Amino acid sequence: MERKEFLQSLGAGAAFALMFPCVSGCSNDSEDLETFPVSEGVDFTIDLTSPESAPLANNGGYIAVKSSEELTYLDIVVARNLEGELVAASKICSHQQTEEVRFISDEGGIFFCSTHGSRFSQTGTPLNTITNNPLKVFNTALNGDILRIFE
Ligand code: FES
Repeated sequence: MERKEFLQSLGAGAAFALMFPCVSGCSNDSEDLETFPVSEGVDFTIDLTSPESAPLANNGGYIAVKSSEELTYLDIVVARNLEGELVAASKICSHQQTEEVRFISDEGGIFFCSTHGSRFSQTGTPLNTITNNPLKVFNTALNGDILRIFE
């Protein structure tokens, strides 16, 4: 099959997409991302007996929460690390401020941003070259079933 025949067999739209894939401008990783500010003055509690906190019952489990009711997005990741300790960090990545940070069990338990793959230690230290900016981490204090997350 000739190229022209192949393109015709795909239809006009597909042929256009194949020939002009970046007609409206190719984006790179720094474009078109919804970004959020890293929260300041964080000090709030969560009830570990609530259904929303259930993933924290297991080592390696994590939840995403809002540090304030006024927020329209989830800004904090709370995790039970592989040693059973409760840790918290910003869900807003220190690379380009997307809200894609989560906790994963790789490397003994790290924070990971799925936008470009930044990896951070539990103290917020960058573990790869995607960013040199530390991830903001928060203090945690457990009082019964109530976990306080604060700066
Ligand atoms: S925004 Fe780029 S790795 Fe998180």
